[in-house]
Amino acid sequence: MSATVVTGIGELVTCAGSDGQTPVLGAVVPAGDRLGIVVDAAVVVEGGLVAWVGPGRAAPEADRRVDLNGRAVVPGFVDSHSHLVFAGDRAAEFSARMAGAAYDGGGIGESVDATRAASDGELRGLLRKRVAEMRALGTTTVEVKSGYGLTTTDEERSLRLAREVTEETTFLGAHVVPPEFDDRTAYLDLVTGPMLTACAPHARWVDVFCEPTAPRAFTEDEARRVLLAGREAGLGLRVHGNQLSSGPGVRLAVELGAASVDHCTYLTDADVAALVAVAGTTVATLLPGVEFSTRSPYPDARRLLDAGVDVALATDCNPGTCNTASMPFVLALAVREMGMTAAEALVAATVGGARALRRRDIGRVAVGSRADLAVLEAPSHDHLAYRPGMPLARALDLS
Ligand code: NIG
Ligand code: FE
Repeated sequence: MSATVVTGIGELVTCAGSDGQTPVLGAVVPAGDRLGIVVDAAVVVEGGLVAWVGPGRAAPEADRRVDLNGRAVVPGFVDSHSHLVFAGDRAAEFSARMAGAAYDGGGIGESVDATRAASDGELRGLLRKRVAEMRALGTTTVEVKSGYGLTTTDEERSLRLAREVTEETTFLGAHVVPPEFDDRTAYLDLVTGPMLTACAPHARWVDVFCEPTAPRAFTEDEARRVLLAGREAGLGLRVHGNQLSSGPGVRLAVELGAASVDHCTYLTDADVAALVAVAGTTVATLLPGVEFSTRSPYPDARRLLDAGVDVALATDCNPGTCNTASMPFVLALAVREMGMTAAEALVAATVGGARALRRRDIGRVAVGSRADLAVLEAPSHDHLAYRPGMPLARALDLS
């Protein structure tokens, strides 16, 4: 097997603890140690895995040498929440919101119509283009949800296509009750029955849009039914919760031991306390691109971090509430608008995302982890928030 030594790394952010292994997150590790920085570093990659990490002057010989000339390297971003399988766009809905209209999930139906009408080839092309955009911006792992098909055939197709680009696929048949169903219970029977049976083989996770204030999304009891059926089919649990109101999503995610509850925009003190109690099990995934694109108040990340909640950052890339594939944009928002430090935002976008996907092989640069590296056109990681909107990060291609 041939080995590559990546040298000339001005600043290597490993996101590994002082033992070089333990992933760091939130309040668990002292601030100064959170990033596990090595200056003038080198990394040896063999068989797609990290084989050695340390100072460049001590780097072993390898078959090939890639010199980064002082650039910074961080773990590739782990985007643990996206909806990349869709056709069409909803730019007009976005513009209407910027002119004062509110978001209630009603536009999802438009994306469902466009997605159903698209051929496999069209959907595959759109999906691959979006994943390529993500890689070009430093993302090396992405979770992809279904949820714009909402028939057994279209959900199964969405997940089959998603599986072509990632192992992290999520069945979101319970995104909304589609327009052709007047009877919510009949739709839930489908989602928890034949649709789940067809989709589960292509999915690792099940998710539900639990938001009682959105007319076509799901109540606590309905969401519990979806999650329990998904678990019965062997899927891990994720929840869209507390996006539009301090609803039951967090409560339910904690009750069922979900890997992640995503959005967390409106939280009660009881929600925060519940998330603290399950730190290590359930991650609060914040999606500030959504608040940007819906002109809503940002989640209070400081409140969560200071309390000791595990926090992740993700894009939620989708046609309705946040049409960006950029983790660097999300990091910049987290730092500028949510009171996170540059270090906290980077940890949340790497280790945090890995935790939200229950993965230990990604999100950090340590011996044995996947060699998923992002190179920055910058000398240090804090340029990500310092130079917002600039094309600084890209996934390092060692093939
Ligand atoms: O995560 N909240 C539910 N689902 C997506 C948005 C879906 C849409 O509006 O198309 C989200 O924000
Ligand atoms: Fe989402």
